[in-house]
Amino acid sequence: MESLLILLISISISISISISSISAFTPPTTYFLNCGSNATITFPNDYPPRNFTPDSQIPSISTTETLTINPTTLSSTSPSLYTTARLFIQPFTYTFTVNSTGTHVLRLHFSPFTTPAHNLSSANFNVSALQTFLLLASFSPSTTTTIKEYFLWLDSDEFQLTFTPNSSPSLAFISAIELFTAPPFLIDNTTEPKQVSRLGNDSNIDHIAHQALETVYRINVGGPKITPENDTLWRTWTPDDDFLFSNITTTVEAKTTTDKISYYAYDKPRSTREIAPEFVYSTAREMNISDVTRIANPKINFNMTWAFPVPSGYKYFIRMHFCDFVSEQPLSLIFNIYIGDLSASQYFILGWLTYQTLSQAHYVDFIAADDVRTSGSLKVSVGPSDQSNSANVISSIMNGLEIMKINNTVGSLNGTFNSIVGTSVKKHRHVSLPVTIVSAAAAPLVLIRNERMEKVNYVIQLSLQVYKGSYLYRTHITDTCITN
Ligand SMILES: *[C@@H]1O[C@H](CO)[C@@H](O)[C@H](O)[C@H]1NC(C)=O
Ligand SMILES: *[C@@H]1O[C@H](CO)[C@@H](O)[C@H](O)[C@H]1NC(C)=O
Ligand SMILES: *[C@@H]1O[C@H](CO)[C@@H](O)[C@H](O)[C@H]1NC(C)=O
Ligand SMILES: *[C@@H]1O[C@H](CO)[C@@H](O)[C@H](O)[C@H]1NC(C)=O
Ligand SMILES: *[C@@H]1O[C@H](CO)[C@@H](O)[C@H](O)[C@H]1NC(C)=O
Ligand SMILES: *[C@@H]1O[C@H](CO)[C@@H](O)[C@H](O)[C@H]1NC(C)=O
Ligand SMILES: *[C@@H]1O[C@H](CO)[C@@H](O)[C@H](O)[C@H]1NC(C)=O
Ligand SMILES: *[C@@H]1O[C@H](CO)[C@@H](O)[C@H](O)[C@H]1NC(C)=O
Ligand SMILES: *[C@@H]1O[C@H](CO)[C@@H](O)[C@H](O)[C@H]1NC(C)=O
Ligand SMILES: *[C@@H]1O[C@H](CO)[C@@H](O)[C@H](O)[C@H]1NC(C)=O
Ligand SMILES: *[C@@H]1O[C@H](CO)[C@@H](O)[C@H](O)[C@H]1NC(C)=O
Ligand SMILES: *[C@@H]1O[C@H](CO)[C@@H](O)[C@H](O)[C@H]1NC(C)=O
Repeated sequence: MESLLILLISISISISISISSISAFTPPTTYFLNCGSNATITFPNDYPPRNFTPDSQIPSISTTETLTINPTTLSSTSPSLYTTARLFIQPFTYTFTVNSTGTHVLRLHFSPFTTPAHNLSSANFNVSALQTFLLLASFSPSTTTTIKEYFLWLDSDEFQLTFTPNSSPSLAFISAIELFTAPPFLIDNTTEPKQVSRLGNDSNIDHIAHQALETVYRINVGGPKITPENDTLWRTWTPDDDFLFSNITTTVEAKTTTDKISYYAYDKPRSTREIAPEFVYSTAREMNISDVTRIANPKINFNMTWAFPVPSGYKYFIRMHFCDFVSEQPLSLIFNIYIGDLSASQYFILGWLTYQTLSQAHYVDFIAADDVRTSGSLKVSVGPSDQSNSANVISSIMNGLEIMKINNTVGSLNGTFNSIVGTSVKKHRHVSLPVTIVSAAAAPLVLIRNERMEKVNYVIQLSLQVYKGSYLYRTHITDTCITN
């Protein structure tokens, strides 16, 4: 009776999926900003396509008086997202008007370069959001492009993003900003993920969706890198090879399917292309146990383990993506899931969760307490359950893994001290325009003086185009990846 019911459900699912054929998500609020530039950079191959427009459209910048100094020597080089940056020598706050409440995705792009007047690699600054969360403290972007991704809950119509230079040289910069509304179900705000903790009863997080989250790893298990062109939320997924733990390569097999991946978007957790694209679900790792070995050792059992170096002092949100395209039968796999050396889920039967449908996307969320780390790493393992019987295949799979840092008790994602709370950007000093900057007249500098806020705020737009001999020319956002 039960299985008949499930059969009927799965039939109705496949019908409704083929009818609705999941359309792309359109965020109500979108900002894609090419900072410090007045050029729009198009990404026609992104899906959906995007335009990064000049950040001068943001009222907190565009209402300011703009001084342009001698931009004479511009070359004909076609501009790219990283050939310009906006510089701050004082605390500065972007204020974005938002049309939506709920979870928003924020991506900050930092691509340093050097001009005669400024060396962006020597910048050192703090970044905070909503005048509450410290996102980056004493941050010095490395020489390569760094993209930081955050998930933030907004329930007002304004979003503030503050850059605060630390001393000597007092310099902060940003190359590009993405801010857009996440699909409402991306981080569920009605149920809480299971918390895995050594102490057993670590205090629960009150509303995971209301915390600030930072993506630290986003992994396409067993498959290639996935770029923003192939992800409807413009995410980057990196391969898992570097995170496979121990000499697992001979015992774990990368697999790819050409099966059509189905999504079931009408239940919890909702599975859609916005949770993860087909590319994530169509590759996997599976335990590699030959038939010969199985016959010789029917109870063979080991774990597939991934290890992710993470700093201590935080809880982590872990999302695991599963899609069984390796089995002949939907209920073949019964496995255990571990976080650290603790059990996160015993007797995990994916087939029940996908209504006995093979090649159907599914994900499971957990929260790992700080005490689950071992040797500086967060480990995730899957291994066959001892409940596996002759009807089951002794194996386990994994398709994708996302690990996000959760802000600590002082609202910081980068250290134990949150310098923002209580101080915010009101703590600015009065400065006069440094002579060195004025004299750098040969550079295409644009100085912006912000008078409306009754403080003197110098924001410098710096164009790299005249110095094209001395920097690494990056033409496309997809050359980059999320770095830790
Ligand atoms: C807010 O919504 C309006 C109306 O849909 C739209 O025109 C505008 O672009 C939206 N603003 C942002 C920042 O997305
Ligand atoms: C901004 O656009 C104008 C032309 O509209 C151009 O002359 C100027 O060089 C541009 N400035 C920068 C910093 O790209
Ligand atoms: C979850 O988010 C939605 C959309 O922002 C909101 O309408 C709803 O009240 C929230 N529910 C809870 C329990 O926070
Ligand atoms: C820029 O600053 C970085 C870090 O301080 C330094 O390693 C690099 O040599 C500097 N580059 C130039 C061209 O001065
Ligand atoms: C940046 O953050 C660090 C760590 O919270 C703090 O010590 C420092 O004072 C902050 N800098 C500024 C300029 O607020
Ligand atoms: C954990 O705490 C909750 C409430 O604080 C309590 O009901 C539960 O029994 C505790 N569990 C353990 C294992 O201590
Ligand atoms: C991304 O999509 C393009 C076109 O659909 C395809 O050629 C390419 O292989 C895809 N890349 C990945 C990593 O899936
Ligand atoms: C690695 O593989 C070798 C030979 O296959 C085996 O003897 C050894 O126990 C394995 N080590 C670990 C940590 O699994
Ligand atoms: C799977 O294991 C067999 C030995 O049992 C080995 O020959 C083969 O290379 C392994 N496959 C992979 C992808 O490592
Ligand atoms: C898999 O890992 C868990 C957690 O570390 C451990 O308890 C279990 O014994 C491991 N299973 C095997 C077969 O090694
Ligand atoms: C995250 O920061 C907020 C704001 O400071 C705080 O209310 C919340 O408790 C923090 N979350 C955790 C898990 O400590
Ligand atoms: C602070 O951020 C940097 C850059 O993302 C990272 O390498 C470092 O581990 C973070 N430190 C802490 C304590 O979160």
